[in-house]
Amino acid sequence: MAKLLVIGIGAGDPELLTVQAIEALNRVDVFFIPDKGGEKAELRERRLAICREFIKGRDFRVVEVAAPKRNSAFDDYRANVEEWHARIEADYARLFATEVGEAECAGVLIWGDPSLYDSMLRIVERLHARGIVVDYEVIPGISSIQLLAARHRIPLNRIGEKLEIAPARRLRPIADDVDSVVVVLDGERTYREVDGEAFDIYWGAYLGTADEILVSGRLADVRDEIDARREAARLAKGWIMDTYLLRRRR
Ligand SMILES: C[S@@+](CC[C@H](N)C(=O)[O-])C[C@H]1O[C@@H](n2cnc3c(N)ncnc32)[C@H](O)[C@@H]1O
Repeated sequence: MAKLLVIGIGAGDPELLTVQAIEALNRVDVFFIPDKGGEKAELRERRLAICREFIKGRDFRVVEVAAPKRNSAFDDYRANVEEWHARIEADYARLFATEVGEAECAGVLIWGDPSLYDSMLRIVERLHARGIVVDYEVIPGISSIQLLAARHRIPLNRIGEKLEIAPARRLRPIADDVDSVVVVLDGERTYREVDGEAFDIYWGAYLGTADEILVSGRLADVRDEIDARREAARLAKGWIMDTYLLRRRR
């Protein structure tokens, strides 16, 4: 029965691949690589480059997986995501039947770490429940959040304090007891609406790549700089990928 490896590849630099990830890459016969088109083409290329660079002395195949868009007609976010996952699951079920031999190993390469704001493990659970994927392994990767902390040379939490992780759409309001919160998936520059006197920000874009940008300081002081650099980079590259830590000032 076909096996699946869900491999975290780190959030940028190929040198962030772990030894376990490289070993896993070298067990895969068929890679499923999402083709999201347009701005995500660079991320697809990075995945292929990793395969070419780190797989030694064995053949592998690459199967493009069309990445369906989320339906915009829903009001209910969870129902929307559920319906979207069902369509992705159906695509993978078909590809497993047609592209992966009985005794073969399939692989998916997950940006950063598979446990962090990525749908793939939920899709795999569904495939597993239906008996389409019988056996699977998860290989952890270095996430964008770890990279953010390393680049700014900071711990993510303060001693004994909580650390929260939030998608930008769930950031506000920031409760009084929140000391440190990492924000991902911010297409709307949500940091603009946070009290700039109350928080420091540690911001990073395109972490682990040649285009990496880092800005840190009191939010009120650096907010305009982040805005300007973010917009210039977004226009130059056509897409932006950024994350940040907000830490309450004392
Ligand atoms: C769908 S989530 C995937 C997170 C990923 N699984 C991880 O472990 O980092 C995508 C979000 O992660 C953050 N992100 C991922 N890679 C990044 C990078 N290289 N630089 C800055 N932010 C990144 C951004 O907030 C982006 O909107």
